[in-house]
Amino acid sequence: MPKKTIRQADQSVNGLFRTLRADPRALPRARPLYRRLVELLEGGIAAGAVAQGVRLPPERDMAAALRVSRATVVSAYRELESRGLVRGYVGRGTYVSAKPDAGSAPFAWRGKMASNALLATDTTVRDLMRAAANPDVMSLAAGVPALDCFPTAAFQRAVDRVLTREPQTAWRHGPTEGLPRVRATLAARFGGEPGHILLLAGAQQGLDLLARCLIDPGDAVVMDRPGYLGAIQTFRSAGARLVGWDINRADIDELEELLLRYRPKLIYTNPTYQNPTGVVLPIRLRRELLDLAARYRVPIVEDDTYRELGLAGVAPPSLFKLDEAHKVVIRINSFSKMLAPGLRLGWISAVGPIVDQLAIIKQQVDPHTQNLSQLVVSELVEQGVFDAHLVTLKAEHRRRRDAMVHAVRQHVPAGALRFTVPDGGMYLWCQLGAHVQARAVHEHALRDRVVVVTGEPFYVDQGGAHHVRVCYTSQAPERAAHAAQVLARSLASAARGTAESPRVRLV
Ligand SMILES: Cc1ncc(COP(=O)(O)O)c(C=O)c1O
Repeated sequence: MPKKTIRQADQSVNGLFRTLRADPRALPRARPLYRRLVELLEGGIAAGAVAQGVRLPPERDMAAALRVSRATVVSAYRELESRGLVRGYVGRGTYVSAKPDAGSAPFAWRGKMASNALLATDTTVRDLMRAAANPDVMSLAAGVPALDCFPTAAFQRAVDRVLTREPQTAWRHGPTEGLPRVRATLAARFGGEPGHILLLAGAQQGLDLLARCLIDPGDAVVMDRPGYLGAIQTFRSAGARLVGWDINRADIDELEELLLRYRPKLIYTNPTYQNPTGVVLPIRLRRELLDLAARYRVPIVEDDTYRELGLAGVAPPSLFKLDEAHKVVIRINSFSKMLAPGLRLGWISAVGPIVDQLAIIKQQVDPHTQNLSQLVVSELVEQGVFDAHLVTLKAEHRRRRDAMVHAVRQHVPAGALRFTVPDGGMYLWCQLGAHVQARAVHEHALRDRVVVVTGEPFYVDQGGAHHVRVCYTSQAPERAAHAAQVLARSLASAARGTAESPRVRLV
C-alpha cells in the first residue's frame, strides 16, 4: 500500500479507536460483548473506513480503551480472523486483510489466501488468453502462430497410430521427466542429452519451476529489458528483485556492471527473435555473455521458444549449444509457437542436478506431462511431419509479416508507429509518438474489437507507456488491412487525446 494510503488508513483506525475510547457505548448493541466489537469493526472494514493493510490497535490497548476484558478483544479478533477479515502475525500485530464477502460464503475468501498468493495481481496473461479465445475480437495480442497451417490430418493419423500401437503408454501414468522415447526424440532433433530433458506443460511451467527451484525472496534476477512478460510475472511472484538489461543496446559492459552491482541469482534472456523486440543476439555477444556468466558463476536461463521461427537467414546457435565448456545454461523450449499453444507442450534442457530437482518440484504440481500429446508430437517429429510443417509455417508467417508491415505503412501515417521489421518471431514492437499513450491506443482499438498489448508489462521497471506489441502471425494476410486501419484510427484518437475514457472490457 502506498505510504499516503497507509497514513490515511492509520488515521481511520485511530479515529475509530478514539471514538470508542471516548464513548464505549458507541459499540453496537449485539450480545455477547465481543460480537459487538466484531460488528463494529466489520462495519468499518465494509465501509472502507478501516482499510485493507491497516494494523488494528493491540488487544491490550483496545481492551483498556473500551473498558472490556482483554479476552473479549481476543475473541473478537479471532472471530474476525476466522472470517478472513483480519490476519494476526506473531509479534507484529493484527492487520485488516479483506473486506467482508458480498457473496454467500461465511467468510471473506480473499482474507484466507496466503500472502504469497496475493503477490500475483497482474492479470495480463489471462487477459491475453481470453481475448485470443474470443471469436468476436481480432486479437493481435497473444503470441499465436498461423494455426491454419497446423498439420491436422497428420496429427489425427499420429493419434491413431499411437493409440493402436501403445494405448497403455498413453493412458497410464508416465515418468515425471517425460517418456524416454520422447526425450530421445527431442534430444536428437533439438540437441541436449535425453537424460537431461524434462517435459513440461508449456514453457511457462518451466519458468515457474525454475523460479521455485532457484529463487529465494529478495534474490536479484537480471533479464531482458523489455522482456517476456510471463517471465517477469513468474519471477516477481517468487519474490525476485528484477533488474533490466537493455536488450536493444545489448552492451556486455553494462551487463557486467549489473552482475557486479546486484549479484543476481540468474540471468534470464530470450536471445533469438526476442519477445517482444524481435532482436537476435549476434554470436560474438553470445560468447561474451557466456564468458561473463561463467566468470561470475551466474546461471543463464535461455528461453529459446522462437528459434525455429526465423524468416531470413539462420540464427546463431543457442547459448545452450555454445556452452560446451561451462554448463551454465538452462534452456527452455516449447511447441506452442512451432505447432500450437493449445497443446501445452514444452521442455527444459539442463544439467542433471537441475533437471532432477525440477522434476521433484514438478511432481508436486503436475505428476507428469500428458502422455498422449508427448507421444503424438514425438511421432510427428520422428516422421518428418514437424519439419515439413515448419517450412509451411514460416512461409505463411513471412506472408503475414509482410502483409501487416505493408498495411501499416499504407494506413498509418509515417512516424506514428515506428518498428524494425523483424527477421523472425511473431511480433512488431511498435514505438508510438512521445505524447501518445499506449493504453489509450489499446482502449480505442478495443472499441473496434481489436486487441493489442501495451508495452508496460514487458518492463521490469518504468517503461513501455509508448509501445504496443502487435502479433502479426495470428491473422490471415487478408485481415491485415483491417487491423492497420483500426490501429491508425486508435492512434489518431489517442494522439488527439480524445480518449473519452472508453474503458471497454471484453469478457
Ligand atoms: C519468450 C516466451 N517464453 C515462454 C512463453 C510461454 O510459452 P508456452 O505457451 O509454451 O507456455 C512465451 C509465450 O508467449 C514466450 O513468448
